[in-house]
Order: sequence, then structure tokens, then C-alpha cells
Amino acid sequence: MATLSPLSFLATTKVSASSPSLLPSSSRKPSKASHRIAKVSCNASNPEGEPQNNRRDVLVGLGGLGAAAATFSYNPLALADAVATDVHACNKPSLPPGAKPIACCPPNYENKEPIEYVIPKYTSLRIRTPAHDYADLDKYTKAITIMKSLPDDHPHSWTQQSRIHCAYCHNSYTQVGHKGVEMQVHFSWIFLPFHRWYLYFYERILGKLINDPTFALPFWNWDAPEGMEMPAIFTDRRSPLYNALRNQNHLPPTLVDLNWNGRSTGVDGSGDVEANLATMYRQVYEVKRPLCFYGKPYRAGDKPLSGSGNGSGSIELVPHNTVHSWTGDKTQPNIEDMGALYSAARDPIFYCHHANIDRMWSVWKSFGREDITDPDYQNASYVFYDENLNLVTVKNSDAFDTKKLGYDYKQLDLPWLKYKPTPRRTKAQRHGRKVKKLDLPFTLKDKIVSTVVKRPQTNRSQLEKDEKEESLVFTLQFDRTKHLKFDVLINEEEDYKWANPKYREFAGSFVNVSHAGQDGGATETTFTVGITDLLEQLDADDDDTIIVTLVPQYGDQVIIKDIKISFEECRLR
Ligand code: C2O
Repeated sequence: MATLSPLSFLATTKVSASSPSLLPSSSRKPSKASHRIAKVSCNASNPEGEPQNNRRDVLVGLGGLGAAAATFSYNPLALADAVATDVHACNKPSLPPGAKPIACCPPNYENKEPIEYVIPKYTSLRIRTPAHDYADLDKYTKAITIMKSLPDDHPHSWTQQSRIHCAYCHNSYTQVGHKGVEMQVHFSWIFLPFHRWYLYFYERILGKLINDPTFALPFWNWDAPEGMEMPAIFTDRRSPLYNALRNQNHLPPTLVDLNWNGRSTGVDGSGDVEANLATMYRQVYEVKRPLCFYGKPYRAGDKPLSGSGNGSGSIELVPHNTVHSWTGDKTQPNIEDMGALYSAARDPIFYCHHANIDRMWSVWKSFGREDITDPDYQNASYVFYDENLNLVTVKNSDAFDTKKLGYDYKQLDLPWLKYKPTPRRTKAQRHGRKVKKLDLPFTLKDKIVSTVVKRPQTNRSQLEKDEKEESLVFTLQFDRTKHLKFDVLINEEEDYKWANPKYREFAGSFVNVSHAGQDGGATETTFTVGITDLLEQLDADDDDTIIVTLVPQYGDQVIIKDIKISFEECRLR
């Protein structure tokens, strides 16, 4: 967690004490006070020449921090501690072994002070449509052709756009106020909002390059059977949307495997449609709390992936990571391009994959699910070049509503809502095999293992279940530069052939996509799997213990440091 370093203590600014705080006091952390607000001496340049609100003149640049101060009354105990991107401290990226060295920092950032982004008032919406039924291919092709023709050091060039991703996930950018601490946009609650902003500017830049303010990106509709092939618009060799570094066995008509195990689970080398749909149900619909869906907290000063408090949300592990690995070229050292975070955005299909991840965020919210109100989440901020070549800071809280950002998704059926996983066997059919408790730490390599895990409480009331998700929480250590996947089964036999997501016994998967960062590859993280509904369906809610089976699917070894059941807020304090 954050520590107060003298270097990070720049100066503080008082903001009006009269406006009442908008946050419940229980959502604030005491201490770690004033270093989060830094006073910036320059005047933000405003290219459009609009009048600026004077707080922004004072509190520019450092991400959403200025906005935090403007919104909340001054109370040193109440100030948020959100991560913010230090664009002035951009370094050479740390890359996984075998990767060709590249630079990731944006051009001409050294002498620029980013300005706070003002979202234009949109009167009409860009509507993103499925890639298998995309009417704007000519526009898209034209825009990408122009983007690819721009010089490499132009902020809108293809090279620069793809490097944004590398800068934000390979220890290239660091955090404002925390010298040398990596800014990392995966493995935590900022995963969804960062990628939303990234695509927002990418789409606007493409529209600008063809002078079309209505231009909208396609999304890879892998959550519906008709969208499960790699979209054909990306597989035409003559198209600028083509990329050679993809798994050649996965070109159409092969269907995507959202549960990719390094080999296909369905027939004909394709993914299994039912398993894909059940995976969507489990990873999206069934995850009711934002911290479980988005990821664990990540606050200023936190080192990503080096403490057991952090962890990816369900959507990031599966299908996000699995589709990355399924798409990338297995013959490359790190499954480049899509299979490694530093190279993924070099493949035009990356933005199409992420448009559907982004759509899943909107879909999840449409189920009436709440958002995260913690100011450290709301104010996390990033720096981008916008379509007018301004270097701007944007923050999470402005990204919650796509309509406010001038776009929406075409409304489609969600076939997976009908694919709730079902038990493979009833309780009576289970053998009740005796399983011993595994000695931890345990190194999971290529053998399936089972262990018994004690439940702290059985038969909770519906109210308790609604408030807290019974969760299986693993503490893991592994080398993050290597690929890795293992599945978790509950009350199941040891035979891996039953590791199929359409069965209720299948609880989830941990998936790592290769990336490097601070401290090289050494990683410690948590992996959380919700099991409230699962245990009810398996008729196991009155059992004192459950049997947990770990099925290694591919990749490197992982040290299981801890396995426990806890009742996760999966929501905030
Ligand atoms: Cu930033 Cu799909 O990853």
C-alpha cells in the first residue's frame, strides 16, 4: 500500500471548506493525507480558448486529482488516493524474455503539461456494431490505412496508438507522486475504465482521420454463436486490418474457445459453443459485485502484482485473457501479438476484442448492478493524446456512461443468459471420496490435485448471501512473463475431462497472459472465485467442507500459497 515519501510531497492546496462531502465518511481512509494533491504552477494551455474554471488552472495535470479536490470539501482525512499517470516519468518498458526491444513512451511528452479533458456535449451517438455484421468496413479500412501512413512519431500513428498499451502495462509509465512505482492498467479495478478511454480516443482519432464524426468501431461478438469466429474483416490478407501473427489454426471457420486450454475443448478444433455460453453466464451474469467483476482495489503507491491484496476481476481473467491467448501466434516466444500484453495492440483485432469487453461492462451494468463509489476508484486517471493532439488527463468517473462519451452499443440478444451451468451429478451420485488437506505452499505443475477446504459458515441467510459472496480465495505466486492457466473444480472427480465450464462443478480459471513489469516476473496476486450460487446448485450449502480440485491446463508452475473461503464484500467497505 501507499507510503508517504518525502519526494511525493509537493505542495498542498486548500479548496473550499463549505461544500459538503459527497461521500459517506465510511468510504474514506484516514491518514495518507495531503500528498495526493499537488499544486502545479503552470497555466494549462487551452487549445480551444474556452474559459477555464479557475480551479483547473491551479489543479491541472495530475489526473483526476484536481477534480477530486474540486468536488470534495477540504478535509485532509477525506482526500482520495487514486493512481494517476506520471507522463513525465516514462521509461523504457520491461519486456518478457524473447521480445524485441521497443520504445513505448508517447512522442513529445517531455515539455507538455497534460490538461484536464473536457468531454464534448454529444448530440448524437456513434453506435458500435458487431464485427460479423459491420457496415462501415470501407471507412474503417480507409481510416486505418491513413493511420498506418502517419510517421511513427505522430501521436495518431498506428505505431503510437499500439504503444499506448505497452506504456501502460510494462513498467513504462509510473505513478504521480510515487517515483519509480509502475502504473499498471491490468489486474485491478482500473482494467475496465482504462481500456474504455483507450478505445474512446482510438475511435475518435480514426473518425477524425476520415473526417467522419459518426465513425464507430466494430466489436467482436464472441459471446454469441454467430460472432464466435475470428471476424472475417480481420482475416483478409489484403486488408490493413490483417495481422500475420495469429494462431493459424484459429482462422474462420474455427470457433473461439473462451476457455482456451492451449488445445480446443470442442469438436473440429473449435471451441464448444455451450461451454462458451456457460462461461459468459458464470463470468458476467453470475458475478454480482463490482469488485468481483472489475478487479480488486489499486491505489496510489500500490505495486501491482506484488502483494496479496490485488487481483483481476472475473471479466479480465476469462474471457479477456483467454481470447488474447487463443488469438496470438503460439509459434512466437510470448504468443505475440495478441498473447502478450506489450504486443497485443499491434493487432487491429485487439480493439475489436476490447470493444466487446467494454460492451460487457455496459451489459453488466444493465442488470442493475452498482458501480464503485470509492474515490480512489473514481479518480484514477490516465493521459492520452486526443483527436485534436491535446495531451489530456481523463478519469474513471467520467467513463461510467458510454452515452456521456458519445457512443453506445447496438442492442443484441444475450444468448448466454439461458446457459446457467448445471450440475454434472447430483449429491447422491457423488462418491464422497476422501480427500486430504493439501500442505501449503504447494507447487502446482502438471498434475491435478485436490484438497479439502473448510467453510467458516454454512447455510447463510439470503440477505447475507446478497451482501457478501462466498468466495474461494487463492494466493498465488508465479512468473508473470510466462503463460499459465489452471481450472478450479468443486466437489468433482480428479479426472480433468470433467473440467468443462458447462458443468456447475467448474468454478473458474486463473489465466495469465505474458507481461513483464517492475521486479521482472516475480508476482504475487489473489485469485477469487465466487461460489455462493454454485454451492446451492450442488446441494452443498449445508456441508462444512468442500473438495477443491486444481487442474493445470498449460504453462508454467504456480505456487499456491494459500486457499481459503471468505465472505467477500466484493463491494466496498
Ligand atoms: Cu490491456 Cu486486453 O489488455
